[in-house]
Amino acid sequence: MISHPDLLVGTETGDDAAVYRLNDHIALIMTVDFFPPIVDDPFQYGEIAAANSLSDVYAMGGTPLLAMNIVGFPVTLEKDILGEVLKGGYSKAAEAECLIVGGHTVDDPEPKYGLSVVGTVEPGKQISNAAAQPGDVLVLTKPLGTGIITTAGKQGVCPPQVLQGAVTTMSTLNRDGAHAMVKVGVHSATDVTGFGLMGHLQSMVRGSQVGAEIQLGNVPVLPGAWELLEQGVAPGGTHRNLQSVAGSAHWHHDLREQEQLLLCDAQTSGGLLIAVAVEKQDELLAELRSTGVADAVVIGRVTEGPVGQIKVIP
Ligand code: CO
Ligand code: CO
Repeated sequence: MISHPDLLVGTETGDDAAVYRLNDHIALIMTVDFFPPIVDDPFQYGEIAAANSLSDVYAMGGTPLLAMNIVGFPVTLEKDILGEVLKGGYSKAAEAECLIVGGHTVDDPEPKYGLSVVGTVEPGKQISNAAAQPGDVLVLTKPLGTGIITTAGKQGVCPPQVLQGAVTTMSTLNRDGAHAMVKVGVHSATDVTGFGLMGHLQSMVRGSQVGAEIQLGNVPVLPGAWELLEQGVAPGGTHRNLQSVAGSAHWHHDLREQEQLLLCDAQTSGGLLIAVAVEKQDELLAELRSTGVADAVVIGRVTEGPVGQIKVIP
């Protein structure tokens, strides 16, 4: 385990990014993320991958400044396609007011794209995933289901408007949600990505030495995701996530496997999961809605214990 007096957030709690204090006024946030295409359109893929990479800086309450492209691309594929991917990435970075200042490409039979991002935060103001407190409410800012929907897209069984809904949510920056949580002041946050809502919440409750309770009926879900689940569509990662939380999750006996899978669905560029003091709940929700984060809702609460355990009720 790496430790250093200026390393404010390291690897021990599985947080979204590392935070390193340069002086009393400024700390660096560093993160990297990249993955293979999840949609056919190269520009949209670039936008989604960039939004996803930038999200880890937002999840720490920081502001992205600079980024580097990380690219794997087959030499046999048309260069125009890579151009479109990069354009998508540049457009999202520009929206985030983050400068892409370089990068590196390797020959790779399966394309991959993402960013290494550097951001800043005031030392001590970083929002860790390991500081939720009993009594906090849990707010989620984007609907779930992007893993299920993009898997259906790859299988050619996804209605176009359902896929478009997922693309829109995945390419939306978590910037406005992050601004709202920084402005209001929250205890803890993370973004929901590959480990799904339950996996990222598991890291939060373990790191914070608390428990949690989630109410499925309050969890926002993308249109079409339930129908696809009923047809048996769910990515391998989502099934693996469900197994990984087996030791932490206490599913109400009325919850079927599909409902458990939904809460474990591996997300790409998912929303922020925020733990906020109950007396600030209304202020946070009002701030989120006023900045256009319309899907943000309370999905549960943080409990004293059992530590590391998540109770899920219908
Ligand atoms: Co993250
Ligand atoms: Co990440």
